Amino acid sequence: MKQQIYKGKLTQFYRLKIAKKQQLTKNTFSLELEVPGDLQKNFEFEAGQYVSIQFRHRGEEIIHDYSITSAPYEKKICLGIKAGSPDGGTAYFCSHYNEGDEIWVSEPAGRFTLVSKPSEFRTIVAFAAGIGITPILSHFKNILHHERRTRLFLFFGNKIVEELAYREQLDNLARMHGDRLQVFYFFSQEKPSNHFFYGRLDEKKLNLIINQILHLDDTDEESTIWDAVDEVLICGKGEMIKALANACYHHGIPKKNIHFELFEEFNDDIYPVEKEFPLLENIELEFKSLGKTYTAELPDNRDKILQQLLIAGYPVPYSCKSGICGSCECILEEGDVELLENEYLTENEEAKNHILACMSIAKSPKIKLNFDLS
Ligand code: FES
Repeated sequence: MKQQIYKGKLTQFYRLKIAKKQQLTKNTFSLELEVPGDLQKNFEFEAGQYVSIQFRHRGEEIIHDYSITSAPYEKKICLGIKAGSPDGGTAYFCSHYNEGDEIWVSEPAGRFTLVSKPSEFRTIVAFAAGIGITPILSHFKNILHHERRTRLFLFFGNKIVEELAYREQLDNLARMHGDRLQVFYFFSQEKPSNHFFYGRLDEKKLNLIINQILHLDDTDEESTIWDAVDEVLICGKGEMIKALANACYHHGIPKKNIHFELFEEFNDDIYPVEKEFPLLENIELEFKSLGKTYTAELPDNRDKILQQLLIAGYPVPYSCKSGICGSCECILEEGDVELLENEYLTENEEAKNHILACMSIAKSPKIKLNFDLS
């Protein structure tokens, strides 16, 4: 085991062997990791989580997050990895690491998770683009296994058919659970025979999906399938998440039931900021990170705290900058802030004054934060 600072936090990594490597498409691979008996506890996970892998690339140690595609009941850790740009670290990782090799892997993390409700009749709708299918595959397998009454709809977008990963698994699941799972594939760079499935998953497409697929509900003639939706899962790039999350919200799904996982840094708010605040200038900010204390002066409160600290060059932990990943979680020890959106913190954490710096606006002239949570 070794410890490493990752996203500003001390993270533990363990040496695991690659048990199986499989190429799914030209650019996508599946890895199964072998977890030794004494590490089984450390690698227990929930559907929707990811692990971070550390490896050397061009003389540097780099770390990337990869979502788990297996479900917890399968008692194995499988990852879905898209190689991406040929010069990038992930492409190097995919071409240089093979079955039998050992790699450094963190314990599973992430909050793109759902509370299991085996006794309820639930309707869950998911939107995935490209490799964004990975955590959703884990969720769907898990729900089909544990929640006999939940029905699932998946809308899965890819550029072309050849890039569609996990089709076999998804089609098999749909065949086995035809009454509870429906999968629809969309392509943005080649025209399927039915024009409906041509194009990106965006607000316009969501309107069509609601009107043409999620309409009459056989189980309740009074309402539509969309009216019965309990949870929405969205995974892909920031622009797609933003478009679909806002569209789902405008179509009546409460924000707390719209869950998303972002696969890249996104320098934008998922939901537009609707509130306005009295202008404050020359805000005194003291914060602690990795045992060091820093003092900064924010010019005003027009922008969020994390963004201002990053512009000024302070070493603060972050990843998504959109209130999703939790990397910038800190404790508000003094002062007042407005947490604009929160996709990450639990009610309990909020009650203990935990905030996300990337989503917080200063509301008092003096603020004290602590990024060292443990
Ligand atoms: S940086 Fe991801 S939640 Fe703030």
